[in-house]
Amino acid sequence: MANQIFDFGMIGLGVMGRNLLLNMADHGFSAIGFDKDTQKGAALESSATAGTTVKGVGTLKEMIDQLKSPRKLMMLVPAGKPVDDVIADLIPLLEKGDIVIDGGNSHYTDTLRRVNYLHEKEIHFMGVGISGGEHGARTGPSIMPGGDPEAYEFVKPILEAVAAKVNGSACVAHLGKGAAGHYVKMVHNGIEYAIMQLISETYELLHHGLGLNNDELSKVYKSWNDGDLKSFLVEITKDIFLQQDDKTSNRLVDMISDKAGSKGTGKWTSQDAMDLPVPIPVIDMAVASRELSTYKEERAQAAALYKSTAMKIEVPREVFIQQLEDALYFATIICYAQGLAMLHVASKELDMEIPVPEVVRVWRGGCIIRSVSLEDFYKAFQTNPQLPNLLLDNSVAHLLQGKVKHLRNVIIHATQTGYPVAGLAAALSYFDAYRTERLPTNLIQAQRDNFGAHTYQRIDMPGAFHTEWKTVD
Ligand code: 6PG
Repeated sequence: MANQIFDFGMIGLGVMGRNLLLNMADHGFSAIGFDKDTQKGAALESSATAGTTVKGVGTLKEMIDQLKSPRKLMMLVPAGKPVDDVIADLIPLLEKGDIVIDGGNSHYTDTLRRVNYLHEKEIHFMGVGISGGEHGARTGPSIMPGGDPEAYEFVKPILEAVAAKVNGSACVAHLGKGAAGHYVKMVHNGIEYAIMQLISETYELLHHGLGLNNDELSKVYKSWNDGDLKSFLVEITKDIFLQQDDKTSNRLVDMISDKAGSKGTGKWTSQDAMDLPVPIPVIDMAVASRELSTYKEERAQAAALYKSTAMKIEVPREVFIQQLEDALYFATIICYAQGLAMLHVASKELDMEIPVPEVVRVWRGGCIIRSVSLEDFYKAFQTNPQLPNLLLDNSVAHLLQGKVKHLRNVIIHATQTGYPVAGLAAALSYFDAYRTERLPTNLIQAQRDNFGAHTYQRIDMPGAFHTEWKTVD
């Protein structure tokens, strides 16, 4: 039909939807967006780059009617019921072969259900993780598509054009079957939670433990970002300390409540890791620490009851800052190792066929957890695409060498002076357990058999054994 002129449609013109659509238009694709709020359609058009083809409409039908066939459209709406509502509205308007993308942070089991439901109607449904925030959406996000490879081929040119580029390669790839795209994004967010937790622990030690002010803090994170810790999260951290509050004469960071919010993706990562099962204790600790932060009133009561034991860290500043840099680097690598190990197992257990080396390649640019370290990990996975855990790679082991003693030292000083370092400690304990050939869990097996006849295996012969354990007075 003559009026089917648009290459791509977006449902939901909030800042993410608008920016991503404008990014597509900037790359030469004709773009149409729908939002019930017609002001958002107008805002879309007024913020388009001159010479690009961008249109905002106020009904879904108007958008669907103007899309080229097979229609390629994405929704960026809140996860949960809004996604199902949009699907219900779309079904009568779509035709066989059309491609519907959910670009939000949906739970992967919801995505799988929707993939199967729309498959029956011969409509492709793809769960696509998109990372990079509002700015990234406009300038180049990291994109994690999963689902039908045939449908991916239709959207690939558009996604490759808008994605971030690293060494000329687009930070997007088909990352597996079914709901793999949203699964990978969920784990991305789990790692994001963990690294943010670790950075906040270093902030506490630098700020209260060493007494650094905001200007000094910014300088420390800047110097770290100039080194091995170069990453998006460390980079924004250095800027945050310098932001002036527009309501008081203080720095904004000092005026922000310490109750941290969360939309659930970190929790989902932990829940799913437990089910697989794969140990990801730094991510678990990050989720728990955010939860603990919301118990503000109880924490205030406990603070009054136990009084603060936190003291100054009595190590020369420069020495401790150097140790902390190594500690953060070490623990951050553990976060990636845990998340990637989870993907390695989930790929098989959940039959998603996730190409983990491609995940690492895609995460190198555009996303919230991008860092120079991912370049090293990418090399490790190119050497061994089936690497079950980053810690088993020789080059990664080399990167960690010499740093673990600094992590130990930081934890010793933090615990002696009373600062909570749950993430750093979880990273170290995970490392120490992972590199231990014989753990004390033989005792747990003995206890299980003692009280519950759960049986145990022996080290010297195969089989399951049970013992009538003696009680000693
Ligand atoms: C991204 C972010 C993005 C969002 C998180 C925040 O990759 O761009 O992860 O998806 O900022 O959902 O999650 P919380 O609100 O749970 O911290």
